[in-house]
Amino acid sequence: MSLIDQARSAQRAAYAPYSNYKVGCALETVDGSVYTGCNIENASYGATLCAERVAVFKAVSDGHRHFRRIVVATDATSPATPCGLCRQVLGEFCEADFEVILCGANEQQRRFILADLFPHPFNQSSLT
Ligand code: THU
Repeated sequence: MSLIDQARSAQRAAYAPYSNYKVGCALETVDGSVYTGCNIENASYGATLCAERVAVFKAVSDGHRHFRRIVVATDATSPATPCGLCRQVLGEFCEADFEVILCGANEQQRRFILADLFPHPFNQSSLT
């Protein structure tokens, strides 16, 4: 199954009763493994997790820390870019050339590299 198909499949598991905005993603590690994620909302709203962070945390908890690209699938007319929190989390583990592929309705696509979406990160070197 392609990364796009895996993201679309993960989207079907999205738990989004509050926003009804369902997101699925597929994150590829440098060794070719794939971790999927979906958004998981909560009645408190603040405890909601985005699909991208679910995928990153699943992968990291399995011992993966280096990623090549992510496909994020929604039904939005114009595919939306990842939120600021997810950019921060992706920035922790992904090189600047990490690819972000966004799929919206009608399989409309947008592609970015992380460095363009998140140009001045707060990261480990900020702490020195
Ligand atoms: N959401 C994601 O899963 N990923 C994004 O990149 C943006 C937003 C989720 C969070 C919430 O469940 C819903 O979309 C609306 O914000």
